[in-house]
Amino acid sequence: MKAIVYTKYGSPDVLHLEEVEKPAPADNEVLVKIHAAAVTVGDLIFVKGSPFLARLGSGLLKPKHKIPGKEMAGRVEAVGGNVTQFKPGDEVFGDLYVCGLGAFAEYVCVPENAIALKPVNMSFEEAAAVAESAIVALQGLRDKGKIQPEQKVLINGASGGVGSFAVQIAKSFGAEVTAVCSTRNLAMARSIGADHVIDYTQEDFTQNGQRYDLILAANGYHPISDYKRALSPNGIYVMTGGSMAQLSQAMFQGPWISMTGSKKMGNMGLKPNKNDLVFMKKLLEAGKVKPVIDRRYPLSEVPAALRYLEEGHAQGKIVITIGT
Ligand SMILES: NC(=O)c1ccc[n+]([C@@H]2O[C@H](COP(=O)([O-])OP(=O)(O)OC[C@H]3O[C@@H](n4cnc5c(N)ncnc54)[C@H](OP(=O)(O)O)[C@@H]3O)[C@@H](O)[C@H]2O)c1
Repeated sequence: MKAIVYTKYGSPDVLHLEEVEKPAPADNEVLVKIHAAAVTVGDLIFVKGSPFLARLGSGLLKPKHKIPGKEMAGRVEAVGGNVTQFKPGDEVFGDLYVCGLGAFAEYVCVPENAIALKPVNMSFEEAAAVAESAIVALQGLRDKGKIQPEQKVLINGASGGVGSFAVQIAKSFGAEVTAVCSTRNLAMARSIGADHVIDYTQEDFTQNGQRYDLILAANGYHPISDYKRALSPNGIYVMTGGSMAQLSQAMFQGPWISMTGSKKMGNMGLKPNKNDLVFMKKLLEAGKVKPVIDRRYPLSEVPAALRYLEEGHAQGKIVITIGT
């Protein structure tokens, strides 16, 4: 089979399309023919081996997993002897973070608990785009953010992979949603359901006197003190990603602020799991969430897709089309 392979850390140029052996499923595994994958900031971190701390998971001196890629959707081609939840022909999607990566390939073997049936109304490309980014948004808003109906919720970075899902998921929980993005993305943010939009090139939402019950920042973008000011007295701030400085503030100042006052602030760590894939499947099938896809690239152009993501201005998700 064809796969994107790397043996050393570096820029996306270290990735090469190669012919490798097609895997065979173990007893608890499902062999999936991958039809689409999607790229994430986490893929970039794994390819670059930077920040260095990430290597504790991905391999200290060289990559532990030869084929990168986390988000994927495809069709089950074969199942191991102990598999009970899937059969050949089933259309599935999932996040391979917990089971050795490998989404940038024509086939992958995954434990049956890492995947779920694909939403029936979604293409493979749309389903792949959901597998991690939407789950980050869901867990940030629901689990860490304790989102409630009618709350005032602000999504900073609303036009990116995580933010475009966060706007729609927050709406599905009945919140009043403010989306922060740049001028060119205002119309898109309104089209996915934002009640209010703020153009960060024109206005700083942390300085305008408005207060929010819940703020989810896809990336930090501001010092934690700015977010504290923009929170209502019992408000919650959740940061999903950002620079090392922003991450340290969320990890060290966040717990202190949370312990010493009524506001709760901090970052989150994604916990991929099947229940949340099924939760998202229902939201997608109910038409409450629809992935925003910016660009599509063939498997051979994963490096170009990652370089585009690295520019930091993707509008929604970047998808890798692998085959039908
Ligand atoms: N915690 C976890 O376990 C976990 C798991 C997965 C992902 N993450 C993190 O989630 C973060 C978000 O990823 P993503 O996929 O959404 O991609 P992204 O590359 O962070 O987002 C791109 C979007 O950000 C917007 N943007 C850029 N500067 C901005 C600013 N100053 N204010 C507001 N928006 C701005 C861009 O719009 P414009 O071009 O219009 O500015 C673009 O639409 C990443 O840092 C990733 O590492 C964390």
